[in-house]
Amino acid sequence: MGITKYSTYCLEDIDKDSIWDQFDPYEYRDINFNEISLTDEEVLRDMVAFYNENRPRGRFLEVGASSNLYPILAALPYAAQIDVWDLGAKNIIYLQAQCVKLDKMWQQWIDKLIQIDPKTYGRVNFQQQLRDKVIIEKSSIFDLPKRRYNNISMNTTAESITNDRNKFEEAVNCFLGSGKQEATVVTTYVGNSKGYEYAGIHFPAVYVEVSDIKGVLDPAMNLSKLDKTKMEFRPGNSLIMGFGKLREKQANKQRDFSIEYAHIYTNSSVGAEQLFTIPVLKKIKTRLEKKRKSFLSVVLVDDYSFPNPAFNYRRFNQWLSDHGAQPDIIFRESQLIPLCDEVIENITDEKIKEQIVNYIRIKRYPCSLFIAVWYLMRLGYIKTLLFDEKYLASQLVNILPISFKPYEDKALEIIAKTNFAGAEKQIEYHFLEEKALSKKSNSRNNLFQNNEITAENIFIEIPE
Ligand SMILES: C[S@@+](CC[C@H](N)C(=O)[O-])C[C@H]1O[C@@H](n2cnc3c(N)ncnc32)[C@H](O)[C@@H]1O
Repeated sequence: MGITKYSTYCLEDIDKDSIWDQFDPYEYRDINFNEISLTDEEVLRDMVAFYNENRPRGRFLEVGASSNLYPILAALPYAAQIDVWDLGAKNIIYLQAQCVKLDKMWQQWIDKLIQIDPKTYGRVNFQQQLRDKVIIEKSSIFDLPKRRYNNISMNTTAESITNDRNKFEEAVNCFLGSGKQEATVVTTYVGNSKGYEYAGIHFPAVYVEVSDIKGVLDPAMNLSKLDKTKMEFRPGNSLIMGFGKLREKQANKQRDFSIEYAHIYTNSSVGAEQLFTIPVLKKIKTRLEKKRKSFLSVVLVDDYSFPNPAFNYRRFNQWLSDHGAQPDIIFRESQLIPLCDEVIENITDEKIKEQIVNYIRIKRYPCSLFIAVWYLMRLGYIKTLLFDEKYLASQLVNILPISFKPYEDKALEIIAKTNFAGAEKQIEYHFLEEKALSKKSNSRNNLFQNNEITAENIFIEIPE
């Protein structure tokens, strides 16, 4: 490969207004990496163990590197090539210079790697490998290609480049989207950060805890490590590590958003409650299209609370289609029953678990449990063959009548007390006011008649 491969970057490309162009990698290096802190040593040891166990191969990514070389040094012997992306102009120059000649202080990091795992690192010519394997690009995380890399690494970047939570999540999703199926993932985040002053400039940050990191990583990957470092590098600030592998299939199948609308009970006719969700659905779709987000739409028919075998699924589907709102899938509530016990088993709060189990013993499965199951299934935390992985999404948007809110709140409370805690943060709502529904609901009953009995009381999968 050689040096020319990473010199495609040219000075004219530098965005002079970017605060990252003012980011001084030498100062950053002096503050953070001239000595090995106990926090970084802990991360380095875990990274080395993770690579040793998973032994990734092929094309690697390091995004937002700045002058932190240790994740790159740890990955080098495994990689055929490492693409290093950063937005800061001075960072790019620093990284290029290191590929030619490493700063002396990096030797202690190399020695540490050899000490931790002599077999992997003992015989490596780090300088040669940096020169041969590293390709540096001045590019943004938001422009990462889809499914390119076998190993992706991002350290203290997504939460440290913005104070906007949506932007943070978008950055993580762009990062995760750049991995191939089953790519290995190494990430670290500054926990509980409120931003930082550095060289006279205020740099933003999103305040994240372990549950936030779980919330963004879990939908896309199997986490083998999710933990804070035992050592804090500043009072109150640990590093949060999230290591693992992107899930098979989901890496390229999972949509960004799943939108639920037109919820209906089988004992009722289609009416205002369904009709008025449709303009909201269309508005959300337009908004997501503008943001270039992928999405699908789903409808849940409640055939459990008030069962009516005469409910005509085909006509309901036709009605939705006639209103320009054909869903990708119509699912029945009773199909969720086998998953209810799985969610109960995953409840970590014994009091809530007991309450639910007692309720089921005396009455039936509670609505709130069904809702929790419905959401955890759509987010991919629990699986059933009836709900193909192509219907999974990273984020849920639910358009529902406001009268549903107490049950929804209870469901989110249940989710927060399961092993999937954090998933509740992947759910948002558009509640429709009852007034709006009733004002125009004179025509609410019998927008179509339920007069045909059908054998189609299985879920309807809409052909693509
Ligand atoms: C806090 S530093 C993290 C440095 C380093 N990875 C570490 O572990 O200490 C954040 C880095 O992200 C880079 N950055 C900021 N916005 C970016 C973007 N949109 N895409 C890629 N990198 C970005 C900055 O230039 C900076 O180098």
